[in-house]
Amino acid sequence: MDAIEALLGRNSAAKLVEPAPRGDDLQTIFKAALRAPDHARLKPWRFLVVEGDARSQLGEVFAQLALAENPSLDREALDKQRAKPLRAPLVIVVIACLQEHAQVPEIEQYLSAGCAAHAMLLAGHALGYAGIWRTGAMAYHAGMHRSLDMALNEKVVGFLYLGTREGEAKPLPEYRVADFIRYWG
Ligand SMILES: Cc1cc2nc3c(=O)[nH]c(=O)nc-3n(C[C@H](O)[C@H](O)[C@H](O)COP(=O)(O)O)c2cc1C
Repeated sequence: MDAIEALLGRNSAAKLVEPAPRGDDLQTIFKAALRAPDHARLKPWRFLVVEGDARSQLGEVFAQLALAENPSLDREALDKQRAKPLRAPLVIVVIACLQEHAQVPEIEQYLSAGCAAHAMLLAGHALGYAGIWRTGAMAYHAGMHRSLDMALNEKVVGFLYLGTREGEAKPLPEYRVADFIRYWG
């Protein structure tokens, strides 16, 4: 698949099954992340790989944080939280590591980490896998920070759910490029 085909054809997949990218394919995906545009080459990111039973542990974190937020949540709602990371065989937590820098404000570092996440989805797609970038309120919850052993200067950029698409791909939306473009000056 060439780069333009990958860029124009990437499509999120909500239902993901094995095989997930592992071994050389996963390395390629991480290498793609490390090529994200990055002012002053700060490498303002790190990645947590969550697979196997660790997904259930992450689900338990989701459930406990949801319960702390809303103690009246019933069992069904909690089980739904628990099942979230099981929607894919592999979850990668993309974390932005923000540092004070004279030339590079935090927003730029955050954007770089977002570009890294996009690069990972694109690389996965180009290798024949599929994925979806998810966040949700728990991504920004202080309890999530604690559970993932994140430092105060770190933020969850997203949970990348990766695997192989189950079922048909949803049709790609068609946008009119001209609706988004104006020539200035
Ligand atoms: C920062 C960010 C957070 C997102 N969080 C969620 C989410 O929590 N749940 C969800 O269903 N989609 C989420 N999305 C959107 C999906 O990743 C996806 O882009 C969207 O479903 C459109 O599908 P497409 O990527 O195939 O166009 C998020 C996207 C971004 C960039």
